[in-house]
Amino acid sequence: MTFVLNGSEVQIDIEPDTPLLWVLRDELNFTGTKFGCGMGLCGACTVHLEGAAVRSCSLPISLAEGKAITTIEGLATKGDHPLQQAWVAENVPQCGYCQSGQIMSAASLLASNPDPSDAEIDSAMSGNICRCGTYGRIRNAIKRAASAVQNWEPEVNA
Ligand code: FES
Ligand code: FES
Repeated sequence: MTFVLNGSEVQIDIEPDTPLLWVLRDELNFTGTKFGCGMGLCGACTVHLEGAAVRSCSLPISLAEGKAITTIEGLATKGDHPLQQAWVAENVPQCGYCQSGQIMSAASLLASNPDPSDAEIDSAMSGNICRCGTYGRIRNAIKRAASAVQNWEPEVNA
């Protein structure tokens, strides 16, 4: 299997039905992406495939062949993506377990909708569960980051 992970080409010899999450965490040691339910229900494992948010626990690696994958590690090389800055400013995380998936879903939302309403945020983020109930702070952070994301250029995203 060959794909591009956070800007770098990866070649790996693995069964094609292996879930992408297992490849990321167990084979490539990209552990920022979390395992929650393993059934596509909680969003903890969210990454981007060709820029769209996907549940990596439910995506066979064969479907990523030749495509670009971005994980939380690749969203910004220095952790300075406007969403990450807004997450800090709004003190969003509690236990933190769900948060990389939340940020990846939020990044996908803002890429397609630069100025989402509360209802649009709630709808787009509804697949990302937070056991700690940080939803209000997540919404505030997305709003805080929205305009900055449109003008943000990563220094190096590879
Ligand atoms: S671990 Fe993938 S959606 Fe829950
Ligand atoms: S911050 Fe604990 S699950 Fe979301």
